[in-house]
Amino acid sequence: MSRRGAYDLPGLPERVTIYEVGPRDGLQNEPGVIPTDTKAAFCRRLLEAGLPVVEATSFVHPRWVPQLADAADLMAWLTDELGDRAREMPVLVPNERGLDRALELGCRHVAIFGSATETFALRNLNRSLDEQFAMFEPVVRRARDAGLDVRAYVSMCFGDPWEGAVPLAQVVDVGTRLVDLGASQLSIGDTIGVGTAGHVRALIAGFGERGVGTDRLAMHFHDTYGQALANALAALQAGITTFDASAGGLGGCPYAHSATGNLATEDLVWMLTGLGIEHGVDLDALVATSVWLADQLGRPSPSAVVRARGGAAEPR
Ligand code: HMG
Ligand code: MG
Repeated sequence: MSRRGAYDLPGLPERVTIYEVGPRDGLQNEPGVIPTDTKAAFCRRLLEAGLPVVEATSFVHPRWVPQLADAADLMAWLTDELGDRAREMPVLVPNERGLDRALELGCRHVAIFGSATETFALRNLNRSLDEQFAMFEPVVRRARDAGLDVRAYVSMCFGDPWEGAVPLAQVVDVGTRLVDLGASQLSIGDTIGVGTAGHVRALIAGFGERGVGTDRLAMHFHDTYGQALANALAALQAGITTFDASAGGLGGCPYAHSATGNLATEDLVWMLTGLGIEHGVDLDALVATSVWLADQLGRPSPSAVVRARGGAAEPR
């Protein structure tokens, strides 16, 4: 657990919310399909380790992401085991069909996922940049009318594998359009992990200039170029208090092959604890969960903290 200590840095938030994406962003990228009961046990262990928000799965087309084709079974399973707690776990919904599936199962938090670039919008959503908003508009409206909370991801906010550098103004435009539709929080994705700390600061400032303050932003870093933790520190210094992370550093994106693992939750927890920032997560329980999952997956976790603290599972 965290506590203010002798080595705090000035000007950082006292408390941070970690938004755990391992069961969704992590497992969507696995080469094989993980059994539903393993996914349910993973979610339960993450909640028990103190993660306040655990994104469970995606109601996308099963042909597009076969790894998460069991989304309805998983949510039914979790609801049996965890009751209302399961209904609070966010799920991804790209369109009205996805929202209908989530509503049927009583989900209370949904997330849409937009792209800052034309190419990724086409590849990930089968929609152009502009068409994606038409797909999201009824999802957000109907979800809000039903009393649900709606988060919006923006992908490729720093660079795009097909288009290269992505102009800051283009990212801010896409993000503010999603806020205007009614999203309560924007998750700013460095999908391929190419961003660096100054770029992070500039992007947060760019949103601020358009009226989207740090209270509406979350940062979603991938660690492809080893910058995720440095970028998280820069974001903390800019006032961000919600960070997406993935237990054991699992993850990627099936429609952006240059995307590797997410910022590992353990690595983030270690840094926050060292900085005296509260996060509510039990690191030992989290490491034990990632070691257990690595064993199920048959390969070691890429997280530095898991390797240092837990020992990694040996490849089978
Ligand atoms: P489409 O083919 O254009 O869909 O795909 P459509 O609207 O033309 O419908 C075609 C058929 O699919 C219809 O069935 C629909 O009912 C069905 P038919 O009438 O032909 O029998 N269908 C569905 N079935 C189940 N669930 C649904 C659904 N929607 C339509 N939700 C679509 C459009 C958006 C569905 C597709 O492109 C898709 O599923 N994409 C998802 C891709 C994805 O999940 N990518 C990974 C997540 S994004 C990410 O990881 C980045 C992030 O982590 C942040 C970051 O790192 O940047 C969030
Ligand atoms: Mg991601």
